[in-house]
Amino acid sequence: MANDGSGSDIVRADSSHGADASPGTAVIAADAFENPGLPPHRERVTDLDPKADRRHERVVSLLFYLSIVFSVAAIAAYFAIPIVENDPWSVRLNTLFLGLSIAGALLSIGVGTVHWGKALMDNAERVEMRHQTRGTEETRARSVEIFQEADKESGFSRRSLLRNSLIGALVAAPLPAIFLFRDLAPRDNDPAAMLAHTAWKEGVRLARDPSGTPIRAADVTLGSVFHVIPEGLEESEHYLEEKAKAAVLLMRLKPEDLNVSPGRETWNYDGIVAYSKICTHVGCPVALYEQQTHHLLCPCHQSQFDIKQEAAVIFGPAKRPLPQLPISVDSEGYLVAQSDFHEPVGPSYWERRGDYDV
Ligand code: FES
Repeated sequence: MANDGSGSDIVRADSSHGADASPGTAVIAADAFENPGLPPHRERVTDLDPKADRRHERVVSLLFYLSIVFSVAAIAAYFAIPIVENDPWSVRLNTLFLGLSIAGALLSIGVGTVHWGKALMDNAERVEMRHQTRGTEETRARSVEIFQEADKESGFSRRSLLRNSLIGALVAAPLPAIFLFRDLAPRDNDPAAMLAHTAWKEGVRLARDPSGTPIRAADVTLGSVFHVIPEGLEESEHYLEEKAKAAVLLMRLKPEDLNVSPGRETWNYDGIVAYSKICTHVGCPVALYEQQTHHLLCPCHQSQFDIKQEAAVIFGPAKRPLPQLPISVDSEGYLVAQSDFHEPVGPSYWERRGDYDV
C-alpha cells in the first residue's frame, strides 16, 4: 500500500491486495493493457486508380442531379395532383407524391455527400492532441489553415462539377416548401374574419354528427350527451372547414345545477346546454364527458371544463371557457340555435378581438 501525498491510499492490484481493497481506496491495475494504436492505413480504389476516382465523382454528381430532378418532381406533383375539396383521395395522392419526391431529393443529397466523403475525400488518419480552446490570434489563423486544408482535401474548389451540382441540389431542395407554405392560409379571404364566424345562425337546427338528423329537445335525457353539427352542413361548399369550427357538444343537466351568469339566462333550454367542442387550448375535440361531475375533458393535454360553471376551465393549460351556443326550440320541438357563438371558437390567435359581434 502507498500514499500519494494527498492522504488517500493507493493499492496496487496484485495478487496480495487486489481482493482485499477496502471501499473508497483507489486501485491501479498493475497489468494495464497497451494502447493497440490504429490499424494500418489501407488505400482505397479511388486513391490508386484515377479512373475510379473520376467514376465515383460522376456517381456523386449524378446523385446531386437526381436530387434536383426529385425537387422539380415535387413542384410538378403539387400542381399536377391538386387537392380537391371533399376528395380524400386527392389529399392522399398529393401527400404521397410530394412526400416521395421531397424524400428522394433529400436522400440523394445525403447519399451523395456520404459517398463523396467515403470515396473521394482524403482518408488519412490523424492524431490531434487536446489543448485548451481559446480564441487567440494563433487559433484563428490555424482555423483558417484548417479550412484551407479541408478545401484542398475535399476538392471542393477544385472539383467544380461536384461543387456546382451540390450547390444546385441544395438550392433546389427548399423550393417545394415555397409552394407548400402558400397553402397554409386562404389566398382570397382574411383568415381572422373566417375564424370569427361559424355555420351557426338563428333558426339552424342542431343535428346529430355525423348522420345529420335533427334533435328534439325531448330526445335529450338527463345525463345524455350528443355530438352536434348544424343541420344541412353536409351541403356546405367547405364542409370540413365549417365542421371544424361548428362542432358542438349538447348535454342536459338539472336546471338548478346550472350557474348562469347575467345575460345568459335564455341561452339554455330547460337545462339543455350546447358548448363548442373545440378546445380553447390548441383546438383538439373536447369529447370526454363525465356524467356524474358534469366535467368535459380534453384528451390532448387534460384541460377540464365545468359545464355547471358555463364551461369554465378548472384544470389544465386551456385559458378560456368553451364558448356557449345559445339555443331554444322551434315550433316542432326541435332544438335550434338562437345565433352564432358570441365569441370566436377554438384556440387564441393573434387577431382575436374582445369586441366580437355576432
Ligand atoms: S388541446 Fe385541449 S388541452 Fe390542449
